[in-house]
Amino acid sequence: MKYFALALTLLMAATAASAEADSPQSNNLRTQESKSSRQLASRQSDWINSHNSVRRKYQKQYGGTYSRIAWSNGLKNKAAALAKSMANNNCQYEDPANKDYGLNFSRSMGSSSAPSVSGIMSMWEGTLSQGYPANGAMTQVLWSSTKYVGCADAYKDNTDPTKRCYATVCLYAKAGNCNMKTYLPEWKNAVVSGSGSLEQTESNLRGSDELRNVDENSSRNLAYATRAEGWLAAHNSRREKYHQEFQSTYSPLSWSIPLRRQAATFAKSMAANDCTIERPSDMKYGINYNKRVGYSNIPTTEWVVKSWEAKKDEGYPANGSFTQAMWSNSTYLGCADAYNANKKCSISICLYAKAGNCNMNNYPSWEEAITQGPGCGLCPPDVQTC
Ligand SMILES: *[C@@H]1O[C@H](CO)[C@@H](O)[C@H](O)[C@H]1NC(C)=O
Ligand SMILES: *[C@@H]1O[C@H](CO)[C@@H](O)[C@H](O)[C@H]1NC(C)=O
Ligand SMILES: *[C@@H]1O[C@H](CO)[C@@H](O)[C@H](O)[C@H]1NC(C)=O
Ligand SMILES: *[C@@H]1O[C@H](CO)[C@@H](O)[C@H](O)[C@H]1NC(C)=O
Repeated sequence: MKYFALALTLLMAATAASAEADSPQSNNLRTQESKSSRQLASRQSDWINSHNSVRRKYQKQYGGTYSRIAWSNGLKNKAAALAKSMANNNCQYEDPANKDYGLNFSRSMGSSSAPSVSGIMSMWEGTLSQGYPANGAMTQVLWSSTKYVGCADAYKDNTDPTKRCYATVCLYAKAGNCNMKTYLPEWKNAVVSGSGSLEQTESNLRGSDELRNVDENSSRNLAYATRAEGWLAAHNSRREKYHQEFQSTYSPLSWSIPLRRQAATFAKSMAANDCTIERPSDMKYGINYNKRVGYSNIPTTEWVVKSWEAKKDEGYPANGSFTQAMWSNSTYLGCADAYNANKKCSISICLYAKAGNCNMNNYPSWEEAITQGPGCGLCPPDVQTC
C-alpha cells in the first residue's frame, strides 16, 4: 500500500487549485476572420474531404495504404498570413521566409469571389501525369507521411475588375516532396513511402510560437497531436525494449483524452504556483511529473521520459517513475505540460490508468512486478474495463 501511495501522489491539491490556472490560452491559435464561421467551416471541410478523397484513391493505386490528412488550425493561421501578404502583392507568389512546411499555392485573377476548393484541387490533380516537378502540388497533396494541412485565401480588390485576385495557400506538415531524387523516376514510390522532410524537429514542425500552448484539446490541432504522439512514442519505445528484456510481452500504452485533461489541470495549477510540486493525499491514477527550470520552453517528451529512465538503477522508490512508465498493466496514458514564463519553469505531468507500482513487495523481483503486477485504481472515465 505504501508504494501505491507513492506512485499515485498528486490528485487532491491540484484539483483544488485548478480554477485559477484554467486560462484560455488556446484562443491564441484561433484566427479572427471576417467571413462567417459557417462559411469557413464548410470551406475547411471541403479542403479536408477533397484531400482525403484523392489520397484514398491514389495512395492505394500507388501500392501504399490510405493515410488520412487532418486539419490544423495552426497551419491555417500561418497560411492565412502568407496568403494575405501575397494578395497584397497582386497575388504574386513569394517564397516564405520560413520553409518548415510544404506549401501549395494557387492564384485566381479577375474574380471577386473565392475560387472553389474543387476547382483548385482539380487543377492540381490535372498535373498529375506531367511528372515531377510539374505535378509537385499534387504529390504534396498525396504525400503519405504528411499528416496535417491548413489552407487559407486572401482577396485583393482593385477598381479594374480584371486585376482583382485571390491568393490561396495550403501548408503541409511534415512537408512532402523531399528527397524526390532518391525515388525518381518512380515518383509514385516517393509519394507513398517517402518520409517527411527529415530535419524537422518537434518544435519547428509545430512552429515555435505554438510551443508553449500545448493545451489544446482537439486532435485536429497540430501542436496537441504532435505532442501526444511524442508522449506515446517516448513511452512505448521503452516499453517495447524493457518488456522484452524482462521476458514478457510488449504492452503498449494508448492515449487517453480525459487523462490528458486531468494532467493539464494539474500541470497548469502547479506551473502557476511557481512550479511547486503539490502532492495530493488521494489518487485514482498513476502519476509521474517533471519540473524543469531555466529554459525558455517546455522540454521534449523524449527528454522527460529519459529523465525518468535515468533513475532506473537507483532503486525503488527512486526509480518509481520509471517503473510506473513501464508498468505493463497500465495501458492508458495522458500527459500535459504547462509553462510559467515569469519563473521560466515548466511542469510536465503524465497520468496512467490503471496505476502501477502497487503491492511491489508481493513480487520476488521488480521486473516481475512491472510485467506481471495488476494495476490499481480506476480505468480512464470513458473506458469500462482496462
Ligand atoms: C506544392 O507544394 C510542394 C511542396 O512544398 C512544392 O514542391 C510545389 O511546388 C507546390 N506547388 C504549387 C503549385 O504551389
Ligand atoms: C476541452 O474539451 C472539453 C470537453 O469538450 C471542453 O469542456 C473544454 O472547454 C475544452 N478546453 C479547451 C481549452 O478548449
Ligand atoms: C528499482 O528499485 C528496485 C528496488 O530497490 C531495485 O531492486 C531495482 O534493481 C531497481 N531497478 C533497476 C532497473 O535498477
Ligand atoms: C491487467 O490485470 C488484469 C487483472 O489481473 C488482467 O485481467 C488484465 O488482462 C491485465 N492487462 C494487461 C494489459 O496486462
